[in-house]
Amino acid sequence: MPFSLTKKTSQQPTRPPGPQGLNRPASMLSFQRAPLRFLTNLTRQYGDIAQFPLLTQPVYFLNHPDHLRYILQEHHYNYDRNMPLVSLVRLIVGNGLSTNTDQESWLRQRRLIQPAFHKQSIAAFGSLLCTETLAILERWEEQAKSGQPVNIAHEMEEVTLHIVSKAMFHRDFTRQSQLFIRSFQLAHQILGEHLRFPFPPLSLPTPRHRQFRAAIQQMDEMVYDIIRQHRQQHHHDHDLLSMLLSAVDEETGKGMSDQQIHDEVITFLAAGSETTACTLTWMWYLLSQHPTVEQRLLAELNETLAGAPPTVDDLPRLPYARMIIDETLRLYPPIWLLMRNTVQDDRIGTYDVPAKTLILFSPYILHRHPDFWEEPEHFDPERFTPERLAKLPRGSYIPFGHGPHLCIGQGFALQEMVLMLALIAQRYRLILAPDHRVEPLPLISLHIRHGLPMHLHPR
Ligand code: HEM
Repeated sequence: MPFSLTKKTSQQPTRPPGPQGLNRPASMLSFQRAPLRFLTNLTRQYGDIAQFPLLTQPVYFLNHPDHLRYILQEHHYNYDRNMPLVSLVRLIVGNGLSTNTDQESWLRQRRLIQPAFHKQSIAAFGSLLCTETLAILERWEEQAKSGQPVNIAHEMEEVTLHIVSKAMFHRDFTRQSQLFIRSFQLAHQILGEHLRFPFPPLSLPTPRHRQFRAAIQQMDEMVYDIIRQHRQQHHHDHDLLSMLLSAVDEETGKGMSDQQIHDEVITFLAAGSETTACTLTWMWYLLSQHPTVEQRLLAELNETLAGAPPTVDDLPRLPYARMIIDETLRLYPPIWLLMRNTVQDDRIGTYDVPAKTLILFSPYILHRHPDFWEEPEHFDPERFTPERLAKLPRGSYIPFGHGPHLCIGQGFALQEMVLMLALIAQRYRLILAPDHRVEPLPLISLHIRHGLPMHLHPR
């Protein structure tokens, strides 16, 4: 639907369409029970901008690239992340890049950290992630012989968390890392449970909530300890932590405090493991259902690598592997729901947006918008050839977000996912266990309900 972003002219506030009367409380329940179905139906019924109630508050749901460019880029200063949900996430990650709601200090941090994620910096992690992936391939040998299926969702979670923690603290801390990973997974799981059903409040010391606090304390102590050791021993390891420790603000000449570094470290672990794990899991599922895509991938791998393990230098010669990842991120973007808080009254299209309105948008729904994607449910990596990509309207494909808050780990994640796809596909064919029903489970990230049992067939 064409529209224009215009300044307010009428005195009468105009609100987007949405469920009315008795349908309003029902819509809130449907959103909580089956959000993907609810949002799909909402856009089908009411179009690219709609509203529905959430607890006491009306929520606007946006589903047009123009709207999204408006709030994420052109007028981003009027749409911040000052929301109760962010305060909950802050319990684990502190005030890192993804939860810092103060524009000025966020920008300072982003500038300080950006160099650690430059192409040349992350290329150095290529061999690390190949070593970690080869380690799981060795572990799989026994399982492949046994003929028992492997839960690929679980395997991808383990390996991606290992990769990002190794990239963070290069030095070997195998014993601590197991403990750290367990605490991290527990805290993350309890927060996920709480977000789905936020009662009783986390401040109430139930046994589960005490476990939550203990896990956070354990992680905090370990991260502060590692920071202290790095500072004392003047390590110059090539890891993200060393880069954060040596980052200096050009204007003030100051580095980051231990607390800032701690918050960023936990933020990267949280933001950088589950997202890639979920994408890879969906990718193995999609590949198992599309043998012609798999054949094309194998042809590319054979031609480019001739059986040798891939390196970062091979990435430009693996375009089809990258297109498979891009198409997976279209159909199953791990960050399936994003949100912003409206700072001051505004107007989007022909609708008024009062201050404090919660704005929701979903890459999962947007990436199926029939105006921009032909046969949106069909898995087709060919959509991402450079020619077709050039024709896509900006803001219609946003798995990594858009505008100033664009994912800082995008390059890291893409490098990791393409190399892992190449390494694993060279060795194994993954076949879905018969009768296993695959359906999305939208938690903080987009998981597969009941995991993904697959049989490993050596090539
Ligand atoms: C498939 C992998 C990934 C996906 C799909 C993804 C997606 C996203 C999205 C959609 C945002 C924007 C959030 C918003 O606008 O509110 C974001 C932000 C962010 N991501 Fe990622 N991410 C991925 C991997 C990573 C990795 C590997 C890291 C770090 C190691 C990371 C760190 C961050 C951080 C720190 C932010 C906040 C940026 C800011 O506000 O300045 N992400 N990510």
